[in-house]
Amino acid sequence: MAVLILYATKTGATEQCIQVLAKEISNCTLCNIEMEKPNIEDFDQIILGAGVRDKKIYKPIRDFIKKNHNELLKKRMGYFICNEKPKETAEIIERNIPADLKEAAVCIESFGGYKAYAAPKEGTDQLKGIFLDKIKAFSENFKK
Ligand SMILES: Cc1cc2nc3c(=O)[nH]c(=O)nc-3n(C[C@H](O)[C@H](O)[C@H](O)COP(=O)(O)O)c2cc1C
Repeated sequence: MAVLILYATKTGATEQCIQVLAKEISNCTLCNIEMEKPNIEDFDQIILGAGVRDKKIYKPIRDFIKKNHNELLKKRMGYFICNEKPKETAEIIERNIPADLKEAAVCIESFGGYKAYAAPKEGTDQLKGIFLDKIKAFSENFKK
C-alpha cells in the first residue's frame, strides 16, 4: 500500500530527510503541506515530518494533526522531527504529538537538524547535522 510522506520545512533539513527516506521506502508519495493538501483517504500509511522552532513543530503539521486526529488513529503512522538539540527531543515529542497518537505510532524519531540560523550554504553538505543512521533505522522499522 502507498505511503504518504507529508512534511513542512523552513530551512530545508526536513526536505533533505524526506529525500533520503523516499529512497528507503518504496512506493511513497511526497507532499509539502504548504504546496498541496493530499486526500488522506487515499493512504493507510502516513509519515509526518516537520522542523521545530521554540519546541513546537511547524504549524501546518501541528494543525494537520489536530484536524485529522481521529483519522490518523486509524492509519499506520510514523512521525519525525528535525531539530538541533537532542536533549529537547523527548520534550518536543511529548508536547507536539498527542498521547494516543504517540502510543499508536509505529515509530517516532528526531533525525537531527541544522543549527539555528546556520543552514548549510548552497554547494556545501546539505546533510550536515542530520543523522542518516536514524533515517535508515526509522525506514527499516516502518517497513516491517
Ligand atoms: C528560531 C529558531 C528556533 C528553533 N528552536 C528550536 C528548539 O526549540 N529546539 C531545537 O531542538 N531546535 C530548534 N531550532 C533548530 C531547528 O529545529 C533546525 O534548524 C531544523 O533543521 C529546522 O528544520 P527545517 O530545516 O526543516 O526548517 C530552532 C531554529 C530556529 C531558527
